[in-house]
Parts: sequence; C-alpha cells; structure tokens
Amino acid sequence: MKIEHIVGPVIHTTSDRKLVIHDNVRIDLKDGKIERFTVNPGENNLNKETTRYLKNGEFLIPGLIDGHIHAVQFPNLGIGYDKCLLDWLDAYTFPLEKKYSDAKFAEKVFDAVVRRTLKMGTTTACYYASIHEEASLILAKKAIEHGQRALVGKVNMNSSKCNGYSESCENSMSVTEAFINKVQKLNSPLIQPVITPRFALSCDMKLMKLLGDLAKKKNIHIQTHISENKDEVLAVREAYNEHKHYADVYDVAGLLTDKTVLAHGVYLTDSELEVISKQKTAVIHCPASNTCLKSGLCDVRRLQAANVKVGLGTDVSGGNFPSILDVMRAALQVSAHLSFIHDSYKPLTYEDVFCLATLGGAEALALSDKVGNFEVGKEFDALVIDLDSPNSVLDNLQSYTLQEKLQRLIYSGDDRNIMEVYVSGQRVV
Ligand code: GUN
Ligand code: ZN
Repeated sequence: MKIEHIVGPVIHTTSDRKLVIHDNVRIDLKDGKIERFTVNPGENNLNKETTRYLKNGEFLIPGLIDGHIHAVQFPNLGIGYDKCLLDWLDAYTFPLEKKYSDAKFAEKVFDAVVRRTLKMGTTTACYYASIHEEASLILAKKAIEHGQRALVGKVNMNSSKCNGYSESCENSMSVTEAFINKVQKLNSPLIQPVITPRFALSCDMKLMKLLGDLAKKKNIHIQTHISENKDEVLAVREAYNEHKHYADVYDVAGLLTDKTVLAHGVYLTDSELEVISKQKTAVIHCPASNTCLKSGLCDVRRLQAANVKVGLGTDVSGGNFPSILDVMRAALQVSAHLSFIHDSYKPLTYEDVFCLATLGGAEALALSDKVGNFEVGKEFDALVIDLDSPNSVLDNLQSYTLQEKLQRLIYSGDDRNIMEVYVSGQRVV
C-alpha cells in the first residue's frame, strides 16, 4: 500500500549533520517522495485510508543503509571465523560463491536475503552478487519484487589464485556489460548496477582499467575492498610493487570516483586517505566483519578528519549478522576500544552511528539527493519504531524522551522493534 501522509514523532539527521527530534510532524508524500514536512501540524482532516497516524510510543526514523553486503554469502553466516581474510576466502567463501552457477540456488537464497534485510530495516543495500550473470540478475529482480532500493554488482575476478573461482578478462567484461544493460532495461527506479572488481588480488590491472573505463562511460557506481587485513595489504604491495600504495592501484585503474565505495580501509595511510578524499571516494566501515575475521580496528574519526565520506556495512558473511542496527553497536564498541588504546581519543556516540547508518550511508553511496533523511524532495524510505512492541523485552518506555528511545534502540533494539518498513512511500514490511 502507498501512503500519502504520515503523522507522528520523527528523528533524523539533517544535512547539516544535526540530530533533529520532533514530537509531532506531518509528512505529506507525492509519488513516494516527501512533498511537505510540517512540524506541529495541528488538527487535520486527512483521508484515513491513505494516512498513517503513529500510535502512542511509535516514532519514525529514516531507512537504514547497508553500504556493503555480499548477498551470496548468507548461507555461510556465523561460520568460518577460525580463519583470517585470505584463508577464509579460499576455504569458505569462494567454494560457496561457485554454487551460484545454479540459478535455482540463487533464487532461493536471494529471496530470503532481500526479505530478511528488509525486516532488519535495510531500505537501501549495496550488494555483491557472484561472478555469474544470471544469478546477479536474479538478485536485482528479487530486490524489485520485494521493494528494496539496491545497487547490485556482478563480481569481477580473473586471478588464477582464487581457488578456481574466476573468469577470463574478456568474459568478465562482456558479461558485465550484458548485466548492466539488462539491469538498466528492468527500468526500476529502485535498482542500479554497480561495477564490482572484487579487490586488487582478484583482478589484474588490465581488467581493473577496463572496468574503470566502463564505469566512466556508463556513469555508474563502483565498489571494491581496500586495506582490510595486514596480509592482504602486504600481498597487494608485492603484486603491484611499482605502485605507491594500495589506493594508487585503484586510482591508476580509474576506479576511484565520487561514486565509488571502498569497503574497510582499516590500514589506509595518510597519503592514501589524501588520494581517496581528493577523488571524493567513500569508505564503508564494516566493524562487525573486522572483528569476526580479526582484521583490525578501523578508526572512523580519522577517516572523517581526512574528509572522507563514511557509511556502514554488514559485510555478510565476513560480518556475522545482516542488521545495520547490530553494525551500529559494533561501530560503538570498536570506537570505545580505540579510546582505551589512544589517550584523549573521543569515541563515537550513538548519535554519530545513527548518522553513519542513514545520512552518512546515503552520502557515501552518492544517493543523498534521494535518501538518508526526511528532507523535502527525497524519497520516503522510513522505519516505524516501537520499543514497547509486544514481542520486545524492553517495556515501560512511556516515560522516556525520544532521544532516550533512540539511544535504547541503538544499544538494545532489534528487528522486533521495527514495526513497518517503507521504501519510496510503499510499505514493504
Ligand atoms: N576481500 C575480497 N573479497 C572479500 C569478501 O568477500 N569479503 C571480505 N570481507 N573481504 C573481501
Ligand atoms: Zn566484503
């Protein structure tokens, strides 16, 4: 059902990065977009059929944005953390991803993935599929079917060192072009293709350069991984020893643009941050994954101080849970741990991670003209939250302020508190 008005308390981060809390707002929608945002609207005579009046205790927040998630890796959730990144890829991840040559398997997994992430409040997901064209297209169609906003990438990898999971450079390019054309022909306002060279160890420079050219020609997004793990960084240094650093490899390939998202960035040096900032490229912080795979502690404040856009990612199944609420908590914990190590380090607050999960993610994905908060002109992607929902263990909340409720949602809430999910004004959960 498409709604035209929604009335109740609202919490969001405005574009000047201020957390704003209103007890009573009326949001008027037109074709799924926010047409008017009225604070303290007073009495109104709205059509009950198309108006959602929030019940006592409910409030509205923007939809959550998962800037980095491998849809194909869901069957491995919660296993494999006995190994670190490179061995984990070889032992657990590549063997699983090969299975997506089977379209039936892809269909079954992706249906569950999209429904589950929507239930967790992810209204926008930046997905990795597999190297297979058919499976990647199935993922795009599943997002459309269930009403999720998504960037979907067919993975590119032509290295012979990926446990037999690879393709030739020529094949990689022709399949990627075909995939992009087919996604664009679906003609859905929710879905965009994203060029997805997996990382510098899975692609050679020739393939990365061709992909960089293609992204430029088509003016589309790029996603890859960078500087996640110390062994990976060393291996990249060896494989590309004529380059200044890891970021330079991608820069020379033309892969760093204002529509590129780099997952992780745990070990980026100051000079790498300079290049990334100059190219207006974003980093997606994946703290749950970085802990599960023992990759390291990423310092978000340092990235932001270098003027790099930052969003959050679950990085399933490097990350152990497909919920951005969980990732917000992981980001708070990693940041607290950094403050134990570095004197005078100011850890992230729940307001900071709320911003990273919404407006920050939108800016990182270059989608902040469309989503991220409730400013007029944006799409209405939103969650109705109730901390006192019958299934929840949290109760007795009537006396808490909205600010306290936000804190409680972030530290202790889960999908049982997400009562409804809207994407472009359409209720999808
Ligand atoms: N680096 C290259 N591929 C992957 C992947 O699938 N997951 C993570 N976490 N890092 C990667
Ligand atoms: Zn990843």
